[in-house]
Amino acid sequence: MSGIFTKAMARNIFYGGTVFFFLLLVALTFDTNKTLPKRDNSANLTPAVIAGKKIWETRNCIGCHTLLGEGAYYAPELGNVYKRRGPEFIKAWIQSQPTGAPGRRQMPQFHLTDEELDNLVAFLKYSSEINTANWPPNIEG
Ligand code: HEC
Repeated sequence: MSGIFTKAMARNIFYGGTVFFFLLLVALTFDTNKTLPKRDNSANLTPAVIAGKKIWETRNCIGCHTLLGEGAYYAPELGNVYKRRGPEFIKAWIQSQPTGAPGRRQMPQFHLTDEELDNLVAFLKYSSEINTANWPPNIEG
């Protein structure tokens, strides 16, 4: 026999640790599932929000922007933009593109209908109301 552990001690630490962390996993999984419906804003999922998400996906907004911190870093985070600017600014902005000076970053013109724009801002409103513990920070620039 060598070392400070006997085989029985090592086995007990192994089983004890396995049981402990498995119970921790179960408890945290239970807690997440209990908390999520209060935070994910799913109560406000409307057909307009769902239609807006499809526009978000098919126009690949995430190829340039982040939403709730996920996506590309070419253009501003849009998870907070609804809170900061509101729906009318966002719709007008999208319709007036491209406005960047030549040689500067530009956003494409998507030729969206009024209904598509309403759906898109409904999706951004919904996203802005998800409780992410204020992540990402609502900082401009
Ligand atoms: C090819 C890249 C690209 C794509 C795709 C793109 N954008 Fe943009 N967007 C930009 C850039 C660049 C800016 C910032 C331009 C500037 O600061 O002058 C911007 C700015 C914006 C702003 C204004 C943000 C603010 O803080 O005022 C909104 C709103 C916006 N985009 C929404 C969208 C939506 C919705 C989509 C998908 C339908 C989209 N964008 C797709 C590049 C893109």
